[in-house]
Amino acid sequence: MHDRFLRACRREPTDVTPVWFMRQAGRYMAEYRKLREKHTLLEICKTPELALEVTLQPLRAFELDAAILFADILLPLEPMGAPFEFAKGEGPIVHHPVRSRADIERLRVCDPHEDLSYVLESVRLIRRELDGKTPLIGFAGAPFTVASYLVEGGKSSSYLHTKKLMWSEPESWNLLMEKVSAVVARFLRAQIESGAQAVQLFDSWVGSLSIADYQTHVQPHVRTILQSVMGLGVPVIHFGTGTTHLLEAQRDAGGTVIGVDWRLPLDVAWARIGNEHAVQGNLDPLLLCAPRDVAVARAERVLREAARRPGHIFNLGHGIVPETPVDHVKAVVDAVHLFKA
Ligand code: CP3
Repeated sequence: MHDRFLRACRREPTDVTPVWFMRQAGRYMAEYRKLREKHTLLEICKTPELALEVTLQPLRAFELDAAILFADILLPLEPMGAPFEFAKGEGPIVHHPVRSRADIERLRVCDPHEDLSYVLESVRLIRRELDGKTPLIGFAGAPFTVASYLVEGGKSSSYLHTKKLMWSEPESWNLLMEKVSAVVARFLRAQIESGAQAVQLFDSWVGSLSIADYQTHVQPHVRTILQSVMGLGVPVIHFGTGTTHLLEAQRDAGGTVIGVDWRLPLDVAWARIGNEHAVQGNLDPLLLCAPRDVAVARAERVLREAARRPGHIFNLGHGIVPETPVDHVKAVVDAVHLFKA
């Protein structure tokens, strides 16, 4: 059993630093692109055998220390009553964005055991297939990040509609956060009950908020989710990007492991987070597209910053991009495992 990842989450010493990557399955791999010629992204997510296949693709190619369930943070939207599609080249599109109090009241607090049972079946299938050799990470989106898709109707660079709702109708915003958080907490608990050995909460876009807005409008909801999940005894990774100003507030909201992006040196981030937490990160994902020796040298810099202190999980500061050369991924994984402090 590769238990390095789980040991590092608990801040126990490991033989070498564990490594996995956000978006380790995806378009940068030819095997994935081939499967996508025949199936849509949603078909893959909704068919446990396909989700299993894609989850395993990066594990066959690289010596990764964890698997991440193949799914998407937006899957709960459909059973909540906000259907969406992944439009080619445009990313997700929610057909009827949630903008008013009435829209929010119509949202359903769905039951993942019924409405997202295909994800739970994937978790069980992947666990069986991994046979205890590699730990499996489940995940969900954090309420601000998920709400930003619901309210904007898709990707946004400013989060204008989301922030306007938050500031102009704080009670409606609160109801929206409560509903999304209830679903997210249930979904994470259900994944753990189905066999996920760790879970990650993705707050990818929360860095767009000031500390004051985070603390007033978002942090209480994230705290409720993390408290309800952390009692189950598996590590919880709390991840965000653009969160240099929010690190302490995110840590205070909860999580066993704090995910850090690439904007701060890892040692600076860890000093701010403190000794009670493990950290995950934090190579700029675009460095995997730099010349291979540059990518490896910069990965080694992250490892020197971590200084083999127990509790470091090597990862990128965000997900792998489609342009990434596969051999650079392999070179970085191997360099992480060969690194000696
Ligand atoms: O390998 C893994 O990391 C597991 C699978 C995974 C996916 N999405 C599959 C996917 C995970 C962990 C996610 C999380 C996710 N989804 C996040 C949080 C992490 C992050 O990147 O910030 C967000 C914001 C989403 C929402 C989402 N899904 C967007 C904005 C897009 C379109 C952008 C894009 O890259 O095309 C997706 C599509 C998506 N989800 C892909 C994959 C592999 C793209 C692949 C495809 O179209 O085939």
